[in-house]
Amino acid sequence: MNLQSQEVLAAITPEDGAFMEPSGRNQWQPVADAQASQTARRSQSRCHRLRPVAAEGLAWIERQWGRADSGEGLSLAIADATSGDALGAAVLMFRRQPGTVAIGYWLVERARGRRLASPAVALLARWALTDAGLARVEALVEPENIASQRVVESVGFRREGHMRSYLVFNARRADALIYSLLPSDLA
Ligand SMILES: CC(C)(COP(=O)(O)OP(=O)(O)OC[C@H]1O[C@@H](n2cnc3c(N)ncnc32)[C@H](O)[C@@H]1OP(=O)(O)O)[C@@H](O)C(=O)NCCC(=O)NCCS
Repeated sequence: MNLQSQEVLAAITPEDGAFMEPSGRNQWQPVADAQASQTARRSQSRCHRLRPVAAEGLAWIERQWGRADSGEGLSLAIADATSGDALGAAVLMFRRQPGTVAIGYWLVERARGRRLASPAVALLARWALTDAGLARVEALVEPENIASQRVVESVGFRREGHMRSYLVFNARRADALIYSLLPSDLA
């Protein structure tokens, strides 16, 4: 596995709240970019007042910390190894099946297009299957999300199938490709 040295997985800190923005009630998404974010805030503020970003950001971060405490899973920041700046997040969430976790990941827009997700996903998935002793890491990817498919495939995940209308978002449902990585897939 060729891990890049540009990034590390790190605990999410309160300062990282700056890269999240509200997308709905108790829902947060990565800030697209400074310009787009300002535009979005201006247009949203015409419709309704947003709650303070710092408080919402801290609440989001506390929810991420709480995932380990509650046994739900583990939520980490993908950080620039030099500056320590958070570039995104990588998350493991337990499934109902014993020994099985789902992996999720995203990068802020300015960090995309540089193949930074693959080494972070590789590091976390391999840790789950070795140090943490789990049996299976799953990834669900929308068929249109080619970059994400490339990420899991480059890490060694195998595609198992196409599940119709499986993912549920705020206002839509979507198909999902299901991928898995097992200890026996690790080189
Ligand atoms: C998915 C995501 C994490 C990938 O981040 P990234 O590391 O910056 O990915 P890159 O843009 O560098 O692309 C990774 C690979 O996909 C390829 N790729 C990206 N977009 C592509 C496209 N539209 N068509 C074909 N290939 C594409 C890249 O060429 C690269 O391939 P390579 O490594 O074989 O050269 C990032 O786009 C993101 O955060 N998206 C929003 C959240 C999300 O979709 N998360 C995953 C949910 S399953």
